Amino acid sequence: MTEFRKDPENESGATILSNRSDEIGVASRELAVMQQELRTALKQKTRLAALGAAVAKINHDLRNSLATAVLVSDRLANIDDPEVKRVTPRLYDSINRAVILCGQTLTFVGDGSPEMKPTLFHLHELVAEVGAALRSTDLAALGLEQPRVLDWQNKVDFELDLEADRQQLFRVFSNLGQNAYQAGASEVRISADAVGDDIGIDIADNGPGLAREAVDQLYKPFSGSLRDGGTGLGLVIARDIMHAHNGEIILLETGKSGTTFRLNVPRRVAE
Ligand SMILES: Nc1ncnc2c1ncn2[C@@H]1O[C@H](COP(=O)(O)OP(=O)(O)OP(=O)(O)O)[C@@H](O)[C@H]1O
Ligand SMILES: [Mg+2]
Repeated sequence: MTEFRKDPENESGATILSNRSDEIGVASRELAVMQQELRTALKQKTRLAALGAAVAKINHDLRNSLATAVLVSDRLANIDDPEVKRVTPRLYDSINRAVILCGQTLTFVGDGSPEMKPTLFHLHELVAEVGAALRSTDLAALGLEQPRVLDWQNKVDFELDLEADRQQLFRVFSNLGQNAYQAGASEVRISADAVGDDIGIDIADNGPGLAREAVDQLYKPFSGSLRDGGTGLGLVIARDIMHAHNGEIILLETGKSGTTFRLNVPRRVAE
């Protein structure tokens, strides 16, 4: 019983079934059944937590894609063709349902750590791709009403290569870039330096800085958001990805003249 209490998920600590016919025998057999049931429940809970984390992340990105789809279907509604006019409301409704579903699911699930698929690539190219994606993302999908020039200054050396999960790092840059523009920045500057075996990457914006409440709740799933329609997952996801790379994300500085986040990441994946 003592061993079980210390490590209930450890299968090797199973109780030996007693043949005794007295009360102690009954108690020990009941205990064995209870232990087995508890272990199964614990395993299920672990799996559910992992599943929840995956759903939260898929949802986060899916919502952005859906917001773009809503915008496109809005434009379709203006086309003067009877067939288009007939199908657009249905398209619009089903996208809206998906958006609501994503929002609801998000409120139910937590977070976890992502699976890594590292490759060798040039950081400059990745940063450029994120910039292009952010620029081509319709402003409404970013929650920006007024058309605004988004100046994405890629100062990363062309030669600087990195072994990491490219797609996951794309999400980190994209989440940080979105946050900056959503906060009101017009300019985001990305620079990187190799320091020994690590790379330090700075993402600096000229926005108004993080509110005090946002700093207090930084990296807390679902609680960090001060934005309308924000889920408060962007930075949590970014930090999870950095941790999966044995790296870190740090809020280097924030104030009236802007915010800088620093990513520290090993240049090569450890064998
Ligand atoms: N560069 C920034 N400048 C100013 N405020 C920021 C910046 N980055 C983050 N914030 C603040 O931190 C909060 C948390 O950001 P986070 O990306 O985690 O969530 P979110 O953007 O609100 O929602 P989402 O899950 O859609 O990304 C934001 O709501 C915002 O208030
Ligand atoms: Mg965000």
